Amino acid sequence: MTAIVPFVDLVAQYESIHSEIDEAFHEVTRSATYILGAPVERFEAEFAEFVEAEHAVGVGSGLDALRLALLGLEIGPGDEVIVPANTYIATALAVSEVGADVVLVDCDPTTYNIDPQAAEAAVTPRTRALLPVHFAGQSADLRPLLDLAHRHGLQVVEDAAQAHGTRYDERPCGSFGEVACFSFYPGKNLGAYGDGGMVTAGDTAAVERIRRLRNYGERRKYEHVVKGVNSRLDGLQAAFLSVKLRHLAAWNEARSQHAAAYTAQLSGVGDLTFQGRAENSTHIYHLFIAETDRRDALRDHLTERGIQTGIHYPIPIHLQEAYSDLGIGAGTFPHTERLARRSLSLPMYPELTPDQIETVTDSIRDFFDR
Ligand SMILES: Cc1ncc(COP(=O)(O)O)c(C=O)c1O
Repeated sequence: MTAIVPFVDLVAQYESIHSEIDEAFHEVTRSATYILGAPVERFEAEFAEFVEAEHAVGVGSGLDALRLALLGLEIGPGDEVIVPANTYIATALAVSEVGADVVLVDCDPTTYNIDPQAAEAAVTPRTRALLPVHFAGQSADLRPLLDLAHRHGLQVVEDAAQAHGTRYDERPCGSFGEVACFSFYPGKNLGAYGDGGMVTAGDTAAVERIRRLRNYGERRKYEHVVKGVNSRLDGLQAAFLSVKLRHLAAWNEARSQHAAAYTAQLSGVGDLTFQGRAENSTHIYHLFIAETDRRDALRDHLTERGIQTGIHYPIPIHLQEAYSDLGIGAGTFPHTERLARRSLSLPMYPELTPDQIETVTDSIRDFFDR
């Protein structure tokens, strides 16, 4: 069945900007600047300005942004990194890939972001970094986390893969940690037409290391100072992202209006509750998340009516087979596990129409009225 309301609609977004995108495509193909070069440098400068960071380094994906950021900070075997249990698995995989130990902690039951007190309780003499995720488009509670990092001499790496344009205390996410990592996976608020990622940072030695690491560890052509990898932001993707960055503020604003419409039309319906608003943070609604005890039945009901939804995330990291070596059983992180059981992400993208929103909310009301 084709969706009446898809979960995201990347075709609708392309249609709305296709002439600008097609022009960017021709600009790159006519100059053949496919690897690094002008389009990547331009987008790095634009993105650094947008995030109010001194530097931005374009890489191959969000996972690579995290992995190279940790390597750039010289985090590796013997080190522990504190990661929220409530995140996409990439956050933990990056830590594992550099050989450090993942230390998971539960989320706040209301905002779904890492619980700073749980993070504090997890600090040991081996802890090197905190890796908060700005989950669903809302900033993690950075004040207590930055304070904790300061007291214990820890580094803060922001996972801002879901927070392009989120502001905390009037400053953009991505400008707080030693380094911050973004994903341009197509469905993100700022998404490429393929994979892509970015590390943003202040003036730290890590930036130079990350620049070298992404490009075979090169200092100069054929002069390799470290064992690097090939993980460069693609020139075409950079050119597309430069176009899309110009629209991001309007798109985030549209998402915010859709979220307000959902909230108004669904308040008091059944046992539905919604992700709570975090203090000091804006919300760019990468995801709009509702909770109900009857999540699976509601999801089936919506699917039957051509409405796509998502679950972020159905199996928490500590219960994934890949992380069975952590030996953490069910019941350890009750808030994260509750979300895996009860949360449902409703369709959310800028081009969503008022009619589509009404279709979703009418169908949800029908479900609870039956
Ligand atoms: C919180 C979070 N971190 C990291 C990633 C990894 O990004 P990518 O898919 O670009 O590797 C994603 C998205 O996929 C994410 O949502």
